[in-house]
Amino acid sequence: MKDNTSSYNSSIYDANITNVLPYYSEFHGQVIDVAKMIILESKEKVKWLDTGCGTGTLALRALSEISDIEFTLCDPSEGMLEIAKEKLSGKDIRFNTVASDALSYTNEFDIVTAIQSHHYYDIESRNIAVKKCYEALKEDGIFMTFENIMMSSEESEAIALKRWGQFLLDHGWTPEGVKAHQARRGTEMFPITIEQHLEILKNAGFKSVNILWVSYMQAGFWAIK
Ligand SMILES: C[S@@+](CC[C@H](N)C(=O)[O-])C[C@H]1O[C@@H](n2cnc3c(N)ncnc32)[C@H](O)[C@@H]1O
Repeated sequence: MKDNTSSYNSSIYDANITNVLPYYSEFHGQVIDVAKMIILESKEKVKWLDTGCGTGTLALRALSEISDIEFTLCDPSEGMLEIAKEKLSGKDIRFNTVASDALSYTNEFDIVTAIQSHHYYDIESRNIAVKKCYEALKEDGIFMTFENIMMSSEESEAIALKRWGQFLLDHGWTPEGVKAHQARRGTEMFPITIEQHLEILKNAGFKSVNILWVSYMQAGFWAIK
């Protein structure tokens, strides 16, 4: 039995995630790049909430590149948070065992991030989770999210899945493993199209909604409150 909703138990997540998600490190790099633009302008420590933080890799990297951040890390999985606490020990960070749809922060953060952590939701709960991220931000705060995406037709979806399947095979997966893993789409995780992502962000109330980055299976978005 896994201790979180990702493909791996928390203890082996870090060692394996780059064999599942093409461009995984790029997601964090893009987010940190945008964050730097905000942090450079800020006279005070920037308050950053990472929801679905997993093992804390994004926070660790951000803190290695920029010092003036006050992090709050949330995740519903105790197992993931335990690893995050170990990796970030000695740093002044708030941890909270909570899912995005149950966040209860209001007007508190300059930055909120949710990286590959909302695709387990159905549409209704996704809307609630993104709205909670919106509410957690201060006015003019920035929300950044990376998510799995669904292609716009069955034909293009099949090609994208084949391409991702080849990536998995190249990273040590068996053909049976690839099949079982891809069968999670629509059963354990629910990718949506880029248009649906943009719609959810607009529905949450963000005044500016933008695409940050796109690949054949994931996309990043940034939005201003
Ligand atoms: C694929 S991992 C991504 C972790 C991390 N953001 C990263 O970049 O490595 C997905 C994470 O989402 C968390 N998660 C699952 N359901 C969630 C929810 N409803 N709200 C927030 N996080 C959730 C899982 O516990 C897991 O840590």
